[in-house]
Amino acid sequence: MCGIVGYIGTQGAIEILVSGLEKLEYRGYDSAGVATIVEGEIHSVRAKGKLYNLRTKLEKETNISQIGIGHTRWATHGKPEEYNAHPHRDNKGRFAVVQNGIVENYQELKQELISKGHEFISDTDTEVIPHLIAEYYNPESNDPFMDAVNKAVTRLDGAFAIGVLCADFPDELIVARQSAPLTIGFGQGEFFCASDVTALVHHTNTVLSLDNGEIARLTPLGVEIYDFTGKRLRKNPRTLDWSPVTVEKQGYRHFMLKEIHEQPSVVRTCLEAYINPDWHSQNSDEENPITLNLKPEIYEDLEHIQIVACGTSWHASLVGKYLLEQIAQIPTFVQYASEYRYAPSPMMRNTITIGVTQSGETADTIAALEMERQRRSSCDRTYQARILGITNRPESTLGGMVDQVINTYAGIEIGVAATKTFVAQVIAFYILALDLAGRRKTITPSRMEEILKGLLQLPTQIEQIIHSEEPKIRDLAHQFPDTKDFIFLGRGINFPIALEGALKLKEISYIHAEGYPAGEMKHGPIALLDAHVPVVAIAMGGSVYEKVISNAQEAKARDARLIGVLPQNHHEDMFQDTLIVPEVDEILSPILAVIPLQLLSYYIASMRGLDVDQPRNLAKSVTVE
Ligand code: F6R
Repeated sequence: MCGIVGYIGTQGAIEILVSGLEKLEYRGYDSAGVATIVEGEIHSVRAKGKLYNLRTKLEKETNISQIGIGHTRWATHGKPEEYNAHPHRDNKGRFAVVQNGIVENYQELKQELISKGHEFISDTDTEVIPHLIAEYYNPESNDPFMDAVNKAVTRLDGAFAIGVLCADFPDELIVARQSAPLTIGFGQGEFFCASDVTALVHHTNTVLSLDNGEIARLTPLGVEIYDFTGKRLRKNPRTLDWSPVTVEKQGYRHFMLKEIHEQPSVVRTCLEAYINPDWHSQNSDEENPITLNLKPEIYEDLEHIQIVACGTSWHASLVGKYLLEQIAQIPTFVQYASEYRYAPSPMMRNTITIGVTQSGETADTIAALEMERQRRSSCDRTYQARILGITNRPESTLGGMVDQVINTYAGIEIGVAATKTFVAQVIAFYILALDLAGRRKTITPSRMEEILKGLLQLPTQIEQIIHSEEPKIRDLAHQFPDTKDFIFLGRGINFPIALEGALKLKEISYIHAEGYPAGEMKHGPIALLDAHVPVVAIAMGGSVYEKVISNAQEAKARDARLIGVLPQNHHEDMFQDTLIVPEVDEILSPILAVIPLQLLSYYIASMRGLDVDQPRNLAKSVTVE
């Protein structure tokens, strides 16, 4: 949700800011703007719509300023119009502010400032910040700019990350963070800041993430960090092991397609990180094949697991529930983080709480975990919080707040529709379920070996699906130019894949799509079916295979166009179209079943000429409630 960038150094700021915003555009793309300091004045340029519009405006001017801030917006308060675009300024135009987050008490602050004579021109919450800073600004004080920003941020409620310029201080950029991500990049005589390291990796690998309640001054000479009480802090930067090509399309038309194609290597990397390749069931007494290194205080006396997540990560968690219950025999509950934070279930004892998120920043997931930690903080040991995070972004807010992180090693994902991060989250659940099953002896060594062998074949099998099915799916995608609704059916471990197939399709193609447990169709949704509603049935081999086939027959009897995701030579005749996947153990099948569905969504959206990587109204990192 919104991206902010900042630069101070020896190069022209504009190009650095705009190219940084391009890397953050996945966080919001309703409007964009930059502010620099030119001849002692704030100079701000803003544009409604995508970044391209801002770039076009900026091309018409020459600006050699070496300091600036920039913003790409996902509208929360106020329409996506230019007057609501950041940076926002105070009435004298002395301060410019970009913000990611929400100032929850902005109405109250606005009234207070209006009563003191401030005039507002936007509908945003952010505009109160430059006014508040101006209100506290005392040029006579020791450190006027820092003092004013510091006083202002302590008045703000909510989650925010800000970047601030002051016309009187052309060599200072001040940034602050409270529950929204902000990272500083260290160059040679130049410093950067951004909501996400994706905007920094082209310039530097040396970064430092601010923690909540921290404020920093960036000058061409260095970075000073303080807490909101004004105490100076000593913090060491870390080195990123990313290369800039990670955030490039590398010849693919869209990031989403690139990320679908990256899945074999993502799965391979995650499996290699956590499976001991030398383990065999014969020497099973000697070691655990899973090298997750869970802390004993997390798994000791374990009785329950609860998972909080949103969107696609919630779907991965539903597969996770199946694995944790079926393999490790642990009762597992999956909750929408946005619901759970306001209506938590009664506390269960000896419970692991897992937060699953690809961005590591989703406000609802972070808040649900914080709430859980808080409500258990005064409990005795059996009820104490034990919090695990599953993410590809261990350096994120989630990474900093949990007791242990399971890194899925999927790396950064740029396409707004999650693909490789979903598959990697599911792989992390296999690893966790097998680890716990091994410790709890709920799995025989030979079954463990069988599943491990199956897992290790998945990367090649995904490659096979992409190779054989992608051309077919590209053609099939042309056959739905006017389709308005799709139904996805799955059962058992593949019910969450039906939900995920439907979500992928609706978010990037804007076609209405629903996923149902196949057996539930006859209890209502079947009324929707006719010749205009294609039905995708996920009929992977295993315990519910014949049941799904019968449910698909029921759809066919209502004239629905049937598309089957199934292994070769399995009732292929009854489907108009088949998306063939290798036959695998049922428990491993979701990883393969989801691949053709991702490709189908991608090609339908791309065939419709839609902006696949940046679908309307969505953002990659949902840092507001
Ligand atoms: C769908 C999608 C969203 C996210 C959801 C949670 O493709 O990307 O539904 O899954 O916003 O995001 P994270 O995983 O970052 O918590």
